[in-house]
Amino acid sequence: MWLPLWLIFLGHFVALCIWGVSAVVVESENYNVEALEFREAILTCKYQLEKNQAARLEWKKVDLNGEVSFVFFNNSLAADLQKRAEMMGSSIWFRNLSRGDSGQYRCEVSAPLDRKNFQEIIINLAVLVAPSIPACDIPSSAMSGSAVELKCREKEGNPASEYKWFKNGLAIELSAKAVNASYKVDKTTGTLHFNTVTKEDTGEYYCEANNKIGKPQRCPAKRMQVGK
Ligand SMILES: *[C@@H]1O[C@H](CO)[C@@H](O)[C@H](O)[C@H]1NC(C)=O
Ligand SMILES: *[C@@H]1O[C@H](CO)[C@@H](O)[C@H](O)[C@H]1NC(C)=O
Ligand SMILES: *[C@@H]1O[C@H](CO)[C@@H](O)[C@H](O)[C@H]1NC(C)=O
Repeated sequence: MWLPLWLIFLGHFVALCIWGVSAVVVESENYNVEALEFREAILTCKYQLEKNQAARLEWKKVDLNGEVSFVFFNNSLAADLQKRAEMMGSSIWFRNLSRGDSGQYRCEVSAPLDRKNFQEIIINLAVLVAPSIPACDIPSSAMSGSAVELKCREKEGNPASEYKWFKNGLAIELSAKAVNASYKVDKTTGTLHFNTVTKEDTGEYYCEANNKIGKPQRCPAKRMQVGK
């Protein structure tokens, strides 16, 4: 009884192997590519076909706003990429990344003669960019007892920066869960929020943006005076 069963399993296994190589198969060595701006990166896309034929290869890009554009079409790279990228077989070699290259890239292969005649894969490219100098919004004066918000923001950093506030040169507790703290720092949005300011909150404030790419950046310090 055991021998026929064993044979059946072997038969299935062999059939699966044949099926596995008998349709267009598209793969990448790296589906999440991260690289610094002005450096290079390779988006790899390799494919196998069932039948010998001229397959059609296309690359499309979905940028961070959801817009789709052609990257490789009709056997040529998009005009704006030709100076700083080239094809290596079916893979794209960016020789000099710019921040606008971040997005999703779709490698699409059509093989009309194959049973399964189309496959695509998606590769994410993140171009890492250091923060710029954040813009800070620090009121020069505030009324004692009022609610006050200090703001800090920079938009160049990728990944998005985290923010830290300083008062008179000393870091303000990040998550001010400290009992009775009258302020709260949101490291993601960059706001320093006071429920009620008191005279003791008078001082020189600045904020620092950091995303671990390159140097952290800070805005110029500014004095906030709390009065009656
Ligand atoms: C594709 O490129 C060839 C030359 O390389 C050109 O003759 C043809 O018109 C192009 N087709 C399209 C649809 O752009
Ligand atoms: C990469 O591009 C930047 C800006 O487009 C340029 O300033 C820089 O010289 C380029 N680097 C190389 C190695 O081509
Ligand atoms: C917090 O404030 C309450 C009421 O103002 C006070 O009784 C308490 O001692 C304070 N706790 C700390 C840790 O400062």
